[in-house]
Amino acid sequence: MFLRGTCKFHTINIRYQNSALRLLSSQVQTNNVSSDDEYLLYLKSQLNLKSRDSTFEIHKLNDKLQTNSIDITSKGFETDYKNALPYSKIPGPSAFTFLRSVLPGGKYCGKNIDEVSKEFRREYGDLYKFPSIFGSQGFVATNKPEDFQTIFRTEGHWPDRTELKTIVYYRTKIRPDIFGKYSGLANSQGKEWGDFRSAVNPAMMHPKNTKIYIPKVDEVATDFVNRIHQIRDPKTKEAPENFSNDLNRWALEAVSVIAMDTRLGLLHDKHDKRSAKLIQGAKDAFKLSFDLEFKPSLWKFFSTPQFKKLIEALDAVTDVSCEIIDEAQEQLKNKPRGSPSDEESVLEKLLQIDPLIAKVMAIDMLFGGMDTTSSTATSLLYFLAKNPEKQEILRKEIMTILPSKDSLLTVENMKNVPYLRACLKESLRMFPTVGVNVRRAGQNLVLQGYQIPKGTMITMGTNMLQNEDKYYPNADKFEPERWLKKDGLPAPAKSAHPFIFLPFGFGPRMCAGKRFAEMEIETLIARIIRNFQVEWHHPDLKFVFTSVYVPADKLLFTFKDI
Ligand code: HEM
Repeated sequence: MFLRGTCKFHTINIRYQNSALRLLSSQVQTNNVSSDDEYLLYLKSQLNLKSRDSTFEIHKLNDKLQTNSIDITSKGFETDYKNALPYSKIPGPSAFTFLRSVLPGGKYCGKNIDEVSKEFRREYGDLYKFPSIFGSQGFVATNKPEDFQTIFRTEGHWPDRTELKTIVYYRTKIRPDIFGKYSGLANSQGKEWGDFRSAVNPAMMHPKNTKIYIPKVDEVATDFVNRIHQIRDPKTKEAPENFSNDLNRWALEAVSVIAMDTRLGLLHDKHDKRSAKLIQGAKDAFKLSFDLEFKPSLWKFFSTPQFKKLIEALDAVTDVSCEIIDEAQEQLKNKPRGSPSDEESVLEKLLQIDPLIAKVMAIDMLFGGMDTTSSTATSLLYFLAKNPEKQEILRKEIMTILPSKDSLLTVENMKNVPYLRACLKESLRMFPTVGVNVRRAGQNLVLQGYQIPKGTMITMGTNMLQNEDKYYPNADKFEPERWLKKDGLPAPAKSAHPFIFLPFGFGPRMCAGKRFAEMEIETLIARIIRNFQVEWHHPDLKFVFTSVYVPADKLLFTFKDI
């Protein structure tokens, strides 16, 4: 009723208002309404808000979205659930067969989880079970967009993405001295998650609060361009073999400016040596925690060597982050009183709400904001290098906002880069950095005729569907144009099911760093494309899945001066 736009939001029952807000949230995301003004206008138009609602604030809406969900447990649904096939009948190997297949000599031995998923799909269809072995997390995988929609729309008041138990154990049992009662946003659930998320949402998700960092992040991108000049081969102009380290350093430097208004100096040769420890620690921790959670392991019973390595990696991340955060807090003491609030870092904003939340969030921004962003920037750079004609179209657009190499990127001119945004989307479509979305079922569900009890962990195989012609014609071609409206017609990519392309997740639990990540990547790519013709003269680049996809090969880009 609401969606057809025939009724006023204020006249509908509170129960349906909740549903309306929820559905609206999905529309906002799938229509990619990105600016603050656009967002508010869109919401107001969709909700038919009257002028007296002009004080309507985005974070209040987010809070509403966070605490409301659709309830589908009608009588009809209960009957459907009762008549559905039992969970035990979902296809998939038994724990014993699966264990044998991952052991040496088995057909899945040495394969990573996305390769195994593809084979499972061929063997079992669009819904199958991964069994739990020795305490690893068992789960159900679906590859149907209609299921994704059902799962997200019924995720409950506090969506549960399932926590990494190793990280929770580390934070609550080994380092409560630092983390106190918080496991952090990504690894907490229920009310703890809801309260934490409400506290950080205005500082992290409000477009007004994210765009203010463009000039500082642009300085980091300019330093990166200077670094490319220094490190590329003077004759061939090819980047050195360890260029992925530089991209990691760029990502850490950029997120550190946003999180703490601190330049770590990572893009100079004489950089802060602690950063190497932080970068390696974060990489190891991501990989080890993922392996311990989803592959057979006995870490819950005793400290396995892999578990000990994870603790070392997490200690490195925690200790270095805390040192950097403490220094940033010290700096804040010297900041003149009454400085404009739009110059505040995320840390400074959150310190005014809760010092412990501020510290834990800053650690997680350094921890979680590196591999994801640098891998996404890498794949976009790679697609542009492999598609010189698209790179040229993008360069034309960038020239309009950066007429000279020393022109600056600003909040204003970054509004006028539709092709750049389309390139980022297309790159994330072809190569979603976080391959799948995950939820625990918020209530009993029926998926593809099977019962899925409340609390079941479900993975949604968006990475496979995003690369299928059925949803995106010529799916193997890098075509940013598919994300752009033409001649008044909707962008072709919009005809795909709206729950397939969700690279930052969905709803109130979606990526808390989405706006920062997009801005950092757009800024970097704009600077690089303004300065260099980027080329790739090697076999196709491969990525490997750790817990996000990271480049598996050397990043031998060629950067020729424009
Ligand atoms: C292109 C880069 C990135 C991608 C593709 C990405 C993707 C994702 C995805 C898919 C999720 C799960 C969302 C869901 O379950 O609905 C997530 C969660 C999260 N991301 Fe990102 N992310 C990126 C960068 C960042 C950055 C830079 C930060 C920090 C500044 C960050 C912080 C987080 C946090 C804290 C969560 C957990 C949110 C919660 O559970 O409430 N991410 N991200």
